[in-house]
Amino acid sequence: MCHHNRFLLLNVAKSDIISLVFQVDETLCPFKLSQEQLQLVKARMRAGLEAGLKTKGSSAIKMLPSYVYRTPDGTEHGKYLALDLGGTNFRAMMVNFKRQNARLYHKIYTIPLEIMQGTGEELFDHIAQCVSDFLDYMGMKNAHLPAGFTFSFPCEQTAIDTGTLVSWTKGYKATDCEGHDVVSMLREAIKRRNEFDLDIVAVVNDTVGTMMSCAYEDPQCEIGLIAGTGTNVCYMEEVDAELSKMCINTEWGGLGDDGSLDDIITPYDMEVNQNSINPGRQRFEKLTSGMYLGEIVRQVLLDLTRGGLLFRGHVTETLKTPGIFETKYLSQIERWEKLCVRSILQQLGLKGTCDDSIIVKEVCGAVSRRAAQLCGAGMAAVVDKIRENRGLDHLNITVGVDGALYKLHPHFSRVLKDTTEVLAPQCNVTFLPSEEGSGKGAALISAVARQMHADSLSGTLLDIMQQFRRELAKGLGRDTNPTAALKMLPTFVRSIPDGSEKGDFIALDLGGSNFRILRVKVSHEKKQTVQMESQIYDTPEDIIHGSGTRLFDHVAECLGDFMEKQNIKDKKLPVGFTFSFPCQQTKLDEGFLITWTKRFKAGGVEGMDVVKLLNKAIKKRGDYDADIMAVVNDTVGTMMTCGFDDQRCEVGIIIGTGTNACYMEELRNIDLVEGDEGRMCVNTEWGAFGDDGRLEDIRTEFDREIDRGSINPGKQLFEKMVSGMYMGELVRLILVKMAREGLVFEGRITPELLTKGKFETKHISAIEKSKEGLSKAREILTRLGVEPSTDDFSLVSQVCTVVSFRSANLIAAALAGILMRLKENKGVARLRTTVGIDGSLYKMHPQYARRLHKAVRRLVPDTDVRFLLSESGSGKGAAMVTAVAYRLTYSSRIFWSYLQSVHAFFSIYHRNVF
Ligand code: G6P
Ligand code: G6P
Ligand code: BGC
Ligand code: BGC
Repeated sequence: MCHHNRFLLLNVAKSDIISLVFQVDETLCPFKLSQEQLQLVKARMRAGLEAGLKTKGSSAIKMLPSYVYRTPDGTEHGKYLALDLGGTNFRAMMVNFKRQNARLYHKIYTIPLEIMQGTGEELFDHIAQCVSDFLDYMGMKNAHLPAGFTFSFPCEQTAIDTGTLVSWTKGYKATDCEGHDVVSMLREAIKRRNEFDLDIVAVVNDTVGTMMSCAYEDPQCEIGLIAGTGTNVCYMEEVDAELSKMCINTEWGGLGDDGSLDDIITPYDMEVNQNSINPGRQRFEKLTSGMYLGEIVRQVLLDLTRGGLLFRGHVTETLKTPGIFETKYLSQIERWEKLCVRSILQQLGLKGTCDDSIIVKEVCGAVSRRAAQLCGAGMAAVVDKIRENRGLDHLNITVGVDGALYKLHPHFSRVLKDTTEVLAPQCNVTFLPSEEGSGKGAALISAVARQMHADSLSGTLLDIMQQFRRELAKGLGRDTNPTAALKMLPTFVRSIPDGSEKGDFIALDLGGSNFRILRVKVSHEKKQTVQMESQIYDTPEDIIHGSGTRLFDHVAECLGDFMEKQNIKDKKLPVGFTFSFPCQQTKLDEGFLITWTKRFKAGGVEGMDVVKLLNKAIKKRGDYDADIMAVVNDTVGTMMTCGFDDQRCEVGIIIGTGTNACYMEELRNIDLVEGDEGRMCVNTEWGAFGDDGRLEDIRTEFDREIDRGSINPGKQLFEKMVSGMYMGELVRLILVKMAREGLVFEGRITPELLTKGKFETKHISAIEKSKEGLSKAREILTRLGVEPSTDDFSLVSQVCTVVSFRSANLIAAALAGILMRLKENKGVARLRTTVGIDGSLYKMHPQYARRLHKAVRRLVPDTDVRFLLSESGSGKGAAMVTAVAYRLTYSSRIFWSYLQSVHAFFSIYHRNVF
């Protein structure tokens, strides 16, 4: 029995006072929990947490996995939308994370009661409408933002972006939602609206959002608490030895649903439970959260009035009205000082005396104090569990907190903290109120989720990068080269241009989408300048697939034509020959074609020296002469072109019809070439990566089909996954399969769609252009004979993105392998280098370059890479190589004649003396 002498102020006779004090105290007594009772609640909460973890969802405390594995680390960036449903208001928010800073814009919307308790479709349509209004307000309707959805109800999750509503709580009761995935429901509502699109990346409980929000400020924050309309806690739990932690949404509001709190539940609580929309459920929540505290107070006031202890025993209709006594009044009454409780009571239509006011305040105090103590007992169980999980004697931890009760009530936060301290003396718990609600946290989780996705991708890419590095080494070794997929061909180019090159040169450029002949004049008046003229010639299908003789006759004929037009048929200019196929070289002006790639398949050329074949064809004509001084791969030409502008350039890559890379390797590592001093450019021929089966794990059925239908099955497998000649076809094959399964074009397959080559890589580039992508897609798909719906556009564009993203990522992994090798060769902690790039895919695709650069920088973090686009093709580079060769040959001719004369002199001298 509780006896206190607090009613001495009351304006009643002494005997009446004693009786009043006694009776009011008696009524409030069950709300006053002893230390022992609170210890018991703590123990029951602890047992509830353990049982929930073991039984996975079937016990009173659900312990729901959130699929959030870590708190923010400050690297999150980008713009995110956050939708926040389930607290007092619905809130839409835009969060922009930039350099450890978050900028927020939000708008609050009310959800009318009839919507909260209408149909699920109405509820989600209403949310979509609010989002639409917010996007208008922000001017971001077309932004297709990633979004995080704070949904403050218990959800069964199987991934970060799915959540099946277990049961409604608080004031919600919309039909057809329980048992359904709320993310799908939101997506469908957005689709129904057909006005904007969102990429919903994550669904999170408000506790999780709050924890993340606060952890952004304080890394020790590993618990989220809501003391608002409802109540709940989440915390970082050790889920297994390997993965370490995952945030668990406890749904502690369910404690007592199995009867474990019956000994502390008062008749008033029972009444509140009976009148709620979910009787028997959320028993702990009904003792502690904002939605119910006012109701409990009203029940007590009703009882006291009926007993004649309040309002002169006068029970008004107002007092009988459920919900009339809101929790905010509780906070206001307990703030006491300036506020006249009587005026609040009057506002409620309750005419009370001063004495009544004191009693009402007592009631409010008892109810709110019990709530804060119970939350404190629960919190003590949580922090003790974390401490024990980690095997610590002492734990320092921060709890991120949100909710109107915590924030607005004058004593709740203090009592909560005191109780936690007393019941968990080995833990030092800091409560950190969340400033911006859990929306910011939901946005952070979306950012983390995206990063996690990227990390897992990086995991695969890191593997590929490492494999590629091993293959590079294998191709360089004398014994391992014969069986290596990467041929690592020496090019006999030993340095990049040094600015001393000069002269008048012809460059032939064969093997890309165009056959081009160029005249390159390099002069040195004041500074080095380059003049170029070029012409593109046709290489018809029948020529590139005919005999080798015809092909080289054609090249010689085009060269004759070009020289005639240039009026230089009578000169014997030095010629550089860019030949974009794998060639075995032992010197600069010799190249034995190993195998044709891409579209070329002229007979009788493989195994032959292409310089000889071209010389033969020129000689056969007899109308002009040419001095072919160098044959270079297009990657080498590109590296040299870019090296002309940037001396740091030591890698050349092509991402066009085909793909390939070359780089400057230390001569001591190239077993196939004599000598240890200096460097030589090596043509990796990376298109053949995987030809030994190394990429089987990641090749898809579509890659295999492309390979089967190609002119070189089993070869250039990496090239076939990533380069321009094949990407369009990959998209077409995927679309055919999707159509067969009825996923696009209403299952209709047209003859055009079935025609090989009808969908080109340039179409991918056009569709992925954000501005005109949609109308282009319509045009392209119409040409394929299909009548696409809006959904079809979006699916086709997603397929394009998947295929082009994969390409950029795979190329990034291989390029990262080369950069790692350069770094190792140089023995530097940080590599500063330039990569020269050319090729139609890289140049034409709207996002390819950006994606590639980003992925490379992520894979080799300690590198400053400059990506330099080769503006003038590889012809200019071929001319540079020729210039060096010409100078060497020229100076060696002088040297030989000098040596001969010296020799002659010596022999004369010799003869004379001896
Ligand atoms: C935060 C969150 C809400 C959450 C609320 C609880 O502000 O953003 O999603 O439900 O706290 O507070 P309330 O007191 O409104 O229930
Ligand atoms: C450069 C070179 C070509 C090379 C081409 C690759 O422009 O001069 O020799 O083959 O890039 O691009 P493409 O996209 O035409 O295959
Ligand atoms: C819900 C929780 C939520 C809490 C606080 C409870 O009713 O079940 O999911 O976290 O309210 O909003
Ligand atoms: C060839 C390479 C060439 C690349 C880019 C590949 O098919 O094998 O030699 O560099 O295409 O054009």
